[in-house]
Order: sequence, then C-alpha cells, then structure tokens
Amino acid sequence: MRINSLNEMRDFAFDFAKKLRPGQVINLVGDMGAGKTTFVSFVGEYLEVSDTSSPTFAIVNIYNVKDFDIYHLDLYRFENEDDILDIDFETYFYPEDAITFIEWADRAKSYLPDDMIEVRIEKINENTRDISII
Ligand SMILES: Nc1ncnc2c1ncn2[C@@H]1O[C@H](COP(=O)(O)OP(=O)(O)OP(=O)(O)O)[C@@H](O)[C@H]1O
Ligand SMILES: [Mg+2]
Repeated sequence: MRINSLNEMRDFAFDFAKKLRPGQVINLVGDMGAGKTTFVSFVGEYLEVSDTSSPTFAIVNIYNVKDFDIYHLDLYRFENEDDILDIDFETYFYPEDAITFIEWADRAKSYLPDDMIEVRIEKINENTRDISII
C-alpha cells in the first residue's frame, strides 16, 4: 500500500504492532533509507519501550516493552554469512519471549529461520513509500 508521510507510516506501524506476538521474526526488506529503522522505531513507540540495551554494538539492540523484548538486528556490516556465528544468533532467530526485527537479513541467508514475516518498504520519493507485508 502507498504511504505518503511519516505520520501515515506511524499509523501503519502502530496497526502492525497491535498484531505482533512473541516468537515472530520480521524480515525488513528495502534499500538504504527506505525506512526500515524508522518502522521499528514506530513499533517500539506503540509498545512503549521502557529500556534499551545493545549486547553487540551496531548489530543487536534490545528494547524492553511491557510483556516481552524486541530484538532489533542490523546485519548490514557483515562481510560474510558466517559473521552471524559471532553472535548468539539462535536466541534472535528463534525468539521465545521476544519479537525479532532484522534489517539486511539476506547477509545471513543460510542461517535464517523458515517462517518470517516479510515487510517490504520501497522509497518512491522523499516522503512516499510503498509497503507490503508478505
Ligand atoms: N513515509 C516515510 N516512512 C519512513 N521513513 C520516511 C518517510 N518519509 C521520510 N522518511 C525518512 O526516511 C529516512 C529512512 O531512514 P531509515 O534509517 O529508517 O532507513 P533504513 O531503511 O533503516 O536504512 P538503512 O538500510 O541505511 O538502515 C528517515 O530519515 C525518515 O525520517
Ligand atoms: Mg536502518
């Protein structure tokens, strides 16, 4: 669907956040600047993040929300897929009391879980995005 502003993106992310359940893994697909991090920030806003930590600087951020945690991974800097072995990836790819969002998940393609929700964001112009959930 077509999103015309940051406000509309917030509404969309809030609606998405309402339906989230622990155990889900969300694969965020889109070019640099598409809005992947922005989308996760809005989800965090809806779920009222109370605390954040970063066990692996620049790769994993953890946000505490009311009933579970959010794991937010950004694999952009990986040079090869086995870089994933340096982090506790099973915790993040098979979350129990948590929900995982992954940016640039294809950097660790062979290690990804089978069932992910794919959120595709495409930049159309400065404030306009096409977003689809697969
Ligand atoms: N409708 C919109 N939805 C999302 N972001 C928007 C929108 N309009 C403008 N923006 C801006 O686009 C930028 C998106 O940047 P963001 O860091 O979220 O991208 P990203 O997909 O995470 O990129 P990267 O792959 O580099 O991490 C932000 O500056 C945001 O404010
Ligand atoms: Mg990002």
